[in-house]
Amino acid sequence: MQITFSLNHQTIEIDAPADITLLTFLREHLGVTGVKDGCDVGECGACAILLDGQLVNSCQLLAPQADGREIITIEGLRAADGGLTDLQRHFIDDGAVQCGFCTPGMILAGEALLAKNPTPDREEIADALAGNLCRCTGYIQIFDAIAATARERQAQTTTGERP
Ligand code: FES
Ligand code: FES
Repeated sequence: MQITFSLNHQTIEIDAPADITLLTFLREHLGVTGVKDGCDVGECGACAILLDGQLVNSCQLLAPQADGREIITIEGLRAADGGLTDLQRHFIDDGAVQCGFCTPGMILAGEALLAKNPTPDREEIADALAGNLCRCTGYIQIFDAIAATARERQAQTTTGERP
C-alpha cells in the first residue's frame, strides 16, 4: 500500500507491505536502526518512537499505520546546532548508557515526558519510563539524566535562554 508520512522531518512516500510491523518497516526497509527490536511483543520499549508526539511501541503497529503521521526516532533528535540534545548529553554525563540497547527508547520516553511535564518529580519520571526496560544501568542514572535535563531546561526558561 502506498503511504506518505514524515520521518525525522522528511516526507517519505513509499510502498509499505500491509503485513509487517512498523518496527520492521523502519529498520529493514528504511534503515532506521536506532529503533531497536527487543521483545517484539510490546513489553520492553526498545522500539519506542514518537508518533505525532506520542510515545508508542512501533512493534505494536503495522507499517501502513504510519500513513499521514509524523514519526520521530532517535535519529531525528538533535540540538539546534545539529549536535547532541541536552538530554542525550546528560545520558552520557550521568552514566545512563551502558550497552545502549534501551537508550533510544529511554531518551524518546524522556522527551515525551518533558514535553508534557517540564518539572517531573522522581515518581513521575519512574511512571513515564515504566514501559521501558533496561538490563544494565538500574534506572537510577537514567532517572538522574532526565531530572538533570528538566532542571537545566527550567533554569534556561527562567533566564530566558530557552524559548
Ligand atoms: S520491541 Fe517493541 S516493546 Fe519490545
Ligand atoms: S543500557 Fe543496556 S539495556 Fe539499558
